[in-house]
Amino acid sequence: MSKLLLIDDETDVQYSFQRIFDSPEIELTTASSGEEGLKIIPKLKPDLVMMDVRMGGITGLETLRRIRQIDSKLLVILMTAYGTTQTAIEAMKLGAYDYLLKPFDVPKLKEIVANALKAGRDMKQVVSYQPLLEKEDYELGIVGRSEPMQQVFKLIGQLAASDATALITGESGTGKELVARAIYHHSNRAQQPFLAVNCAAIPEQLLESELFGHERGAFTGATLQRIGKFEQCHMGTLFLDEIGDMTPATQTKILRVLQSGTFERVGGNTPLKVDMRIIAATNKALEQAVAARQFREDLFYRLNVVRVHIPPLRERREDIRLLVNYFLKKFARDQQRSPKSITSGVSKALEQYHWPGNVRELENVIRRALVVAKGDGILITDLPGEVTGQSTSISGVPVAAGEGGGSDLAGLARQLFQWARRDPKLKVIPAVERELVIQALKETNGNQVHAAKLLGITRATLRKRVEKFGIQRELSIK
Ligand SMILES: Nc1ncnc2c1ncn2[C@@H]1O[C@H](COP(=O)(O)OP(=O)(O)OP(=O)(O)O)[C@@H](O)[C@H]1O
Ligand SMILES: [Mg+2]
Repeated sequence: MSKLLLIDDETDVQYSFQRIFDSPEIELTTASSGEEGLKIIPKLKPDLVMMDVRMGGITGLETLRRIRQIDSKLLVILMTAYGTTQTAIEAMKLGAYDYLLKPFDVPKLKEIVANALKAGRDMKQVVSYQPLLEKEDYELGIVGRSEPMQQVFKLIGQLAASDATALITGESGTGKELVARAIYHHSNRAQQPFLAVNCAAIPEQLLESELFGHERGAFTGATLQRIGKFEQCHMGTLFLDEIGDMTPATQTKILRVLQSGTFERVGGNTPLKVDMRIIAATNKALEQAVAARQFREDLFYRLNVVRVHIPPLRERREDIRLLVNYFLKKFARDQQRSPKSITSGVSKALEQYHWPGNVRELENVIRRALVVAKGDGILITDLPGEVTGQSTSISGVPVAAGEGGGSDLAGLARQLFQWARRDPKLKVIPAVERELVIQALKETNGNQVHAAKLLGITRATLRKRVEKFGIQRELSIK
């Protein structure tokens, strides 16, 4: 349950909040003045404060200033019916999480509160490494005893003690974001904000305004000035996620900020200075992108000051057992149940699987197994087919594994190979070839010229395969 504190002198607003946030997930407390709010906060320890700007007694801004003296990280959203640019800037400078104009519609308000609470949880997420790993009931942490993970933990420690830019690389689901948060939590910027920007998720036109902010009237629709992430993150840590997906234009702009430490809001010409720590992450092979001229070399060198590479799970199989235990305990604790056990067959299957989606996939497999398991233990039948090698689709090809897996040819080949291993007598390449030929002929309605083209072979070769595999009978090809 999250604790929400409303500070507003209007009883109408208090009533509507009580109506809107009448839910089991939220415990709402109200205060009618800044002074009262300041008294309540140390005892209540709210997760989020929503506060009016204009109130009798001290103003919302002054209250925010004093809140910052007690708690540098408490999330505060300011609300006002009179939106002046100046208060907006002032509010953001004082570290307000957001600034809203009244009146707002209920769904929007709920969404904003939910997002803020989530951001708050993300920031609080206590990330612990090495020393805490020994504890039996460790808090949420990074698990791993393998040699490569030990190296990662050491690097986290070194990076936490410095202010160097870090580049975290690794396949999808290996824990890049977790590592970024760990560096932040142990750094001497831990009391300052941590902001994450997913460079792949924001459309190019918006990225600039998201990062740098904009002046009022900078473009159509820019009715208010906006403070960008860079500015909000002043003195803090900025996590640039999925940097391999940045467009060339954005790369250039980001490089400029990194080089000069200054930037301008979109539509503005006052250079603003920022002091922040950059942590970047990507699952792309950036060196290759540089070689292919898709990623700026100078930006690459700027970001690649200290590299933290997290190896895929299949290259550190000794961590699998540890992670499984960790997730079993974690989910049991979340659901306030006693942890379920696993049989040795299950443990073996989990340790042998190639985990294309890495730790995230493992986490999901355990979560799912706990849902479907009927008794006290997880059985082999509670695991998805691709993990146990049992799942085949109609054409005999394994179903692609979850998130992050099977989208590339290498991943598919890996799956095929795992599948083929179940039957030592199977002739893998001919079997795969046969399926491909059938597939191509089906797609082209039996047109051998087109099918051969799709497969990248000559028509003569195709015809030989059709004969060899006895496909005519199956497809009634002319
Ligand atoms: N070593 C680990 N110990 C415990 N949990 C882990 C570990 N590594 C990853 N996880 C968990 O796996 C999930 C995926 O991790 P995270 O989001 O950090 O991956 P990512 O590398 O950023 O993935 P993507 O490239 O897809 O964004 C998270 O739920 C995270 O908590
Ligand atoms: Mg990530």
